[in-house]
Order: sequence, then C-alpha cells, then structure tokens
Amino acid sequence: MDNFTFYNPTKIFFGKDRLNELVTLVPKDKKILILYGGGSVIKYGTLDKIKSALNGYQIIEFGGIEPNPRYDTLMKAVELIKKEKIGFLLAVGGGSVIDGTKFISLASLISEEQSLKLLFKGYGSLPLTDAIPFGTILTLPATGSEMNAGAVVSHGDSKYVVMGPLTYPKFSFLDPTLTFTLPETQIANGVADAFVHVIEQYLTFPAGGYFQDRTAEGILMTLIEIGRKTIEMPTDYELRANLVWNATMALNGLIGMGVPSDWSTHMIGHELTSLFGIDHAKSLAIVLPSLMVIRKDKKRAKLIQFAERVWEIEEKDDDKKIDLAISKTREFFESLGIKTRLSDYGIKANDIDKVIQGLKNKGFVALSESRDLTLDVARKILENAL
Ligand code: NZQ
Ligand code: ZN
Repeated sequence: MDNFTFYNPTKIFFGKDRLNELVTLVPKDKKILILYGGGSVIKYGTLDKIKSALNGYQIIEFGGIEPNPRYDTLMKAVELIKKEKIGFLLAVGGGSVIDGTKFISLASLISEEQSLKLLFKGYGSLPLTDAIPFGTILTLPATGSEMNAGAVVSHGDSKYVVMGPLTYPKFSFLDPTLTFTLPETQIANGVADAFVHVIEQYLTFPAGGYFQDRTAEGILMTLIEIGRKTIEMPTDYELRANLVWNATMALNGLIGMGVPSDWSTHMIGHELTSLFGIDHAKSLAIVLPSLMVIRKDKKRAKLIQFAERVWEIEEKDDDKKIDLAISKTREFFESLGIKTRLSDYGIKANDIDKVIQGLKNKGFVALSESRDLTLDVARKILENAL
C-alpha cells in the first residue's frame, strides 16, 4: 500500500426530515444564494422546504444549472454573487448543480480571465487561496460530489475537471426521501455511476490494499443487490438509503487511498457525453465492459478477484471466469435499463475519430493505472463497444 494522507472535511447529515438543522450551519449574517437545476426542486417542493427552514435569512436564488453544467451558465451565477455580495452558497440538486456550485465558489473570488484558466488548466494553475463556502442538499445519488472536491464543467465540446482542497462542501444533507421523485432512468444512472467509480479505484492490479479491496467489493455487491430493486420500488426507504450512502462512499476518497486507480472509462465517457449528449452514467456503461475486454491481460489478477468475490463465479478456468464476469457486468447495466453499445445511441464506426481527437486535444494519450492506454487502445475499446 502506498503512503497517503486522508482528509475529508465534509460533514454529512444523513436521514429524513433534517432540514430544520440547516439553521445551525448556514450563517445568518451573510447573504445566501440557493443554486438549483432545471426546476425539479421547485416541482417536488424541496426548495420550499429549504426556504421555510431558513425563514428570516436573506436568500437569493439562481436556477437553471443544466445537466453537465456549462461554464457560461455558471459565470452568470458568478456575476450575481459579485453584484449581491453573497457570502454563502447552498447547492440543491444532483452532481451537476453541486459541481457547478464548486466551480462558482472559486470563480466568484477571481477574475473572468482567471476563471477560464482555472477551467482549462486546472486548479493548480492559479494561486487560489479562498472560495465562497458552500453546503449541499443532495437530490440524486450518483456522483459522490456531495462529499468530494471534484467538479466537472462543460465548455464547447469538452468536459473539464476542476478539483482541489477548497472545493469540499462544508456540509451535505443526504435525505433519501428527496430522491424518491427521480425518474427510473436517473436512478439507473446513479447505480451505474457509483458502480463504475468503485471499479475505477479497484480494477487495476493487486496493491496490498485489503481494506480498500474488501470495501470496494462490498459497495459493488450492495449495488448489485439493490440496483434493480430501488428502481422498481422507488419509495422503499431502506433500499434508497443504501443507494445514497453507497454512492457517497464510492467516491469520497476512502477506497482509493494508497491504491492505484484507472479513470480511463470516465475520460473516454466524458468525450461521449460532450460529443453525443449521452448521460454521464450511460457513457460509462458503454465504455467499461469493452475496456475490460481489451485490457483483460493488464487487469488479469484483479478481474479474477472481481469474478470470484463480487460475482461469486465458481468456474475453474480463469479465462472463462473473466469472460463471465465481464458479461455479468454488461448484463447488470442492461438489467437497470441502460444500453451498453454505442450503436444503441446511434453512434457509428466513423464517429470514433471524433472521440479520439477529443482525447488527443486534451492530452489524454497515456491513460490508466499503467499509463499505457494510448489513443490506439482507446480506439480498440470504442470499436469493441460498437
Ligand atoms: O435539473 P433538474 O430539474 O433538477 O433535474 C435533474 C436533471 O435533469 C434531475 N433530478 C435531480 N434530482 C431529482 C431530479 N429529478 C427528479 N427528482 C429529483 N430528486 O436529474 C437530472 C440529472 O441531474 P444531474 O445533476 O445532471 O445528474 P448527476 O447527479 O448524474 O450528475 C452528473 C454530472 O456530474 C458529473 C458528471 O460529469 C455530470 O456533469 N460528475 C461529477 C463527479 C464528481 N463531482 O465527483 C464525478 C462523476 O464521475 C461525474 O463526472
Ligand atoms: Zn462518474
């Protein structure tokens, strides 16, 4: 196991009917900006609940943060924050609203020119010292953004990751009942996204992380156990509570400490979302099974472990064991109602060049735990996914 420093400062408030506790966390002497998406929080009453919990506070609202939040939209919030001298942000929504708020929290304290640099060149390109503090109220279990420092922001035909110590939420409310209104397809997305987050911190090579491996396997097995059920029984509290907590734990840093990770599925998937508008989680469900096929040799030991411990496959022959584990993974995504082939989304062989060009433009020419997933390998993965 490699050396590591683990620090996650986000305070979690898990469970139903806890919004009255917001008053203990949101500063009363500052102007508050509540940020949300396309209106689900208005439609289902979440925004009203929050506003009544914060009765007497000076509140301004900013709605319209779209899925895969766009830089231009976020900069409108920045303008409002600068004009109104907002001192605290409250993100209400899924990964897109939370990620957008993270970017806004940094961009509000720097110039527009610096914000563009932050987007294109990343967190480390600026001497950042401060961000507007923010908390989150999660309505979609999927990304783990509620307890990590990552923000994915779209600009033009690309997605960019901004991430650093200033973008952890101060607190997050995880109320499973606020997710009961999600359409089936978004719940399926949540299960698949969390599953792939775990896989990308697990399916590399053995690194002596017994705790990390067993915890990762526990999350994967739980997602397999509850995935279909929580889609079919959307208001079953126990099932949904488990999805919410598993999705948070899948990407809050814990299972990735001291072990290698391979974010290639996400990097290739981001290109599919940017170019073809495929939902984030669905892009991952397309790439992952094919990546497993093409990278079988590189990931052999962990694929065997995954087959034995997660899928409990008893087959003697290792090659057959691996193939079975890969087909079970694909079947799992399909069982959630997620199609796993590029052709299911109307993408053809001659579209692959665009994806490769997108990866090349960003310098993603040596991805994976061993830095040998070149553009040629990425092409093979995409061809396998057709
Ligand atoms: O916009 P509204 O009207 O709120 O509707 C949203 C949106 O259309 C809807 N929704 C959310 N909560 C709901 C609800 N509908 C009914 N009831 C509710 N309770 O769901 C739709 C999708 O929301 P979105 O936030 O886009 O989904 P998700 O949470 O999957 O976030 C995806 C974004 O997160 C990024 C992705 O790249 C993508 O931009 N990611 C962020 C990560 C991170 N910060 O660590 C890691 C992930 O790998 C991912 O890359
Ligand atoms: Zn993801």
